Amino acid sequence: MASITIRNLDVSIKEKLRLRAAAHGRSMEEEVRLILGELGNAIPMATPAMSTTIRASGSLSGRRILLIIGAGIAAYKCLDLIRRLRERGAQVRPVLTKAAEEFVTPLAVGALAADKVFTELFSREDEHDVGHIRLSREADLIVVAPATADLMAKMASGLANDLASAILLATDKRVLIAPAMNPRMWNHPATRRNRAMLQKDGIRFVGPNKGEMAESGESGDGRMAEPLEIVAAIEGLLARRQKPLAGKTIVMTSGPTHEPIDPVRYIANRSSGKQGHAIAAALARLGATVRLVSGPVTIPDPEDVTVIHVSTAREMRDAVEQLLPADAAIMVAAVADWRTANEAGEKIKKKPGEKAPALQMIENPDILAGVGHSKSRPRLVVGFAAETQDLLANAKRKLDKKAADWIVANDVSHATGVMGGDRNAVRIVTRLGVEEWPDMSKEEVAERLAAKIAAALQTVEV
Ligand code: C5P
Repeated sequence: MASITIRNLDVSIKEKLRLRAAAHGRSMEEEVRLILGELGNAIPMATPAMSTTIRASGSLSGRRILLIIGAGIAAYKCLDLIRRLRERGAQVRPVLTKAAEEFVTPLAVGALAADKVFTELFSREDEHDVGHIRLSREADLIVVAPATADLMAKMASGLANDLASAILLATDKRVLIAPAMNPRMWNHPATRRNRAMLQKDGIRFVGPNKGEMAESGESGDGRMAEPLEIVAAIEGLLARRQKPLAGKTIVMTSGPTHEPIDPVRYIANRSSGKQGHAIAAALARLGATVRLVSGPVTIPDPEDVTVIHVSTAREMRDAVEQLLPADAAIMVAAVADWRTANEAGEKIKKKPGEKAPALQMIENPDILAGVGHSKSRPRLVVGFAAETQDLLANAKRKLDKKAADWIVANDVSHATGVMGGDRNAVRIVTRLGVEEWPDMSKEEVAERLAAKIAAALQTVEV
């Protein structure tokens, strides 16, 4: 396999590469391979093992993070979190609670962090060497992941009977927690009280997410945020550089549309809006001004996003037109292709002896194609293609028909569970080729796509 020596590159190229890699959440070598891949060279991506050895001076360069790992099954995700933080240039000093050692070993944590792992409150050696007061102060940020119900309760009531809780009580630094617990524990009145108390004390939260628990058959709020979400939250608190999408305006659509049959009935689809809303939130975290036109969904509005709620495809089109011009349009909504031509003004009644009413359908406006061909076309136009067959061929056709720059293609066959579910495996179809992403959570897809959009808007000039 060809080898790439980033060190030998010209300084200005290296700087651009560093920014692009950081925006994508990749190492510089992975980024180079991707660029070459896009040019048609079939060079495979770096393996995770390779990428850990390459340390880009990234968005968290020189930042010191004290990572307190609580005792939960999600503790294993901290290994990935440490790797990703170090790839971005952060120094990670790990603290394990006694019980956390049941879930991850100090050896693995220490090897990834390349630092000593602290576990004891009254360790003669550690107190002499660093001490819990110094530990709590010699960091730019304290991150608790997973934050168990027990740790949160200790924090809320100011207990300090082990190293982790003593550090949390002694610190004068900002604290970010990533809760992880069983949904019943998360929703228990005691945890609710502790949450409110911690929020009042200025503790920042990332997650938890909704999803399957480790215990079989359990699901709900309580899954720890994914490592990339935690990284994004840390970057939001610590990153020195300006957010990559600051000053950019992005128009989005998300969710289904409802096309009325009569005043009480409508035609809909299974879109939950989860993927579109997650992308809107991820773009906002990168500093963009996001205006989201949402069809009827049951999930909350994403944070820091202006949401315009609509019901039908025509209302969605009108709202999108009002929001142009913009720097980018990301059209994720599952817009109904057809609506009823003969919408009844009154509820259609069942009459004895009469045949079932026939629905006549007419085509809805194609919002994405409208934006793609618009006089005020944004610099970057991205569409989605939810298909159950001929995924890539259909996506490529859509690229031209709708004048889009990228089509994010996903298989929504019933068996994939994508529609309404929490995971997604997408391919990004561009005029340069197809980028295949592994199966990941919709939040991770959102993070990666937002980073890709940020990189494109930084480089594409018209
Ligand atoms: O043609 P199809 O519905 O598969 O295209 C999907 C893409 O086009 C999505 O990005 C969707 O948001 C957009 N679309 C639209 N208006 C329509 C139909 C689809 O914006 N009427």
